[in-house]
Amino acid sequence: MSSARPPVLRIGIAGAVRGGGFLSSLRAQADRARLETVYDPDHEVRDGFAAQNGAARVASSFDELLEHCDVVVLSSPQQHHVPQAVEALARGVHVLSEVPAAVSLEQAQALVGAVRGSTAQYAMAENYCYTRPNLIVREMVREGLFGDIYYGEGEYLHEMRSWHTRPDGSPTWRYHWQVGRDGHTYPTHSLGPLLWWTNDRVVAVSCHGTGRHTDPEHTLQDSTVTLARTAAGRLLSIRFDLLSNRPELMDYYAIQGTGGAYEAPRTSDGVPVVHLTGRTAHDTWEPLESFAEQFLPAAYRNPPDDGGHWGSDAWPLRDFLDAVTAGTRPEIDLYTALDWSLPAMAAEASIAANGAWVPVPDPRFFTAGIGVDPGPEAPLA
Ligand SMILES: NC(=O)c1ccc[n+]([C@@H]2O[C@H](COP(=O)([O-])OP(=O)(O)OC[C@H]3O[C@@H](n4cnc5c(N)ncnc54)[C@H](O)[C@@H]3O)[C@@H](O)[C@H]2O)c1
Repeated sequence: MSSARPPVLRIGIAGAVRGGGFLSSLRAQADRARLETVYDPDHEVRDGFAAQNGAARVASSFDELLEHCDVVVLSSPQQHHVPQAVEALARGVHVLSEVPAAVSLEQAQALVGAVRGSTAQYAMAENYCYTRPNLIVREMVREGLFGDIYYGEGEYLHEMRSWHTRPDGSPTWRYHWQVGRDGHTYPTHSLGPLLWWTNDRVVAVSCHGTGRHTDPEHTLQDSTVTLARTAAGRLLSIRFDLLSNRPELMDYYAIQGTGGAYEAPRTSDGVPVVHLTGRTAHDTWEPLESFAEQFLPAAYRNPPDDGGHWGSDAWPLRDFLDAVTAGTRPEIDLYTALDWSLPAMAAEASIAANGAWVPVPDPRFFTAGIGVDPGPEAPLA
């Protein structure tokens, strides 16, 4: 890739299903970015995506995709994120990865080495941080309205049994990577917002399961609960369930601090509420929405109408392009992405050890990439 950037960034999309979730955001960035090319190993899928969305070209390999883009969105199945990021970063192509960042410790280490050795930027597109309620709560936490936060909860409950096999019964990637392992195989939607709000990271987890009841052929237990201890001493409790019979609840969060509490709704007819000591009447809640005018940052007020996941899909690509254009560090950078992804590996080890507390490594101390020409990530001095 030439060092002179073209005035309009060429965007490549790898994985043409979830890749569609970035398009409304991309259309809103037309002055500085355009959909150049798409790759998906399924040629019907990639041809259809390109025709429907006006991609300038269709790539028949990931390598070919990289030849024609400045920024690649990795919306491929999760086990491909790191191998593809490593290849892209080695070629100086900026990477916006879907979640999670990595599926094993080895992958996490490889990613650290690749980012440290590249002059290109890396970020993870954790869209759930950018829902309207989560953006409001983040500012309220930063302003100290909840006081000293010592407890948080997250839940991702999404009955996906029909997604694990194709109509002919053959397994999809989710069969292996989401329900073919035990513990918490998809952690970032629940952990990301809680850790982003509090600027904290998980240092150890203890993961427990209910046993296998609804679709017992899978290794993943029906519900798992991961207790997490953070660097600042907070306790988090995260429930994860891809199998149980129930309506979905993918964006439940709660926090408790010395100054009050936040509760997301658990059912579709509820609203997010807060209780703030000294402001909210004793034993009552007030709607979070009443704080929107004061606390929702202007930059996130107007997502495009077709922004998916409650409007949150509008922002990760926009914010990443800001970082790429300005040469600044993305907010959900390499280390943050891994802080939110590595607890899955520790949870898998914990549940296999009957809930034993398992430490979560700090990726800042990985040695991969030390000794290579430094990129924007400073290796350990
Ligand atoms: N952030 C979110 O809200 C959100 C939502 C859905 C999915 N995801 C993530 O997006 C990723 C894709 O999920 P999905 O729902 O689109 O899965 P999917 O199974 O519906 O589609 C995956 C697509 O990727 C293609 N593919 C397979 N191998 C590939 C490769 N090596 N390179 C490029 N494309 C490849 C497949 O042919 C298929 O078209 C996963 O990592 C998932 O965790 C995130």
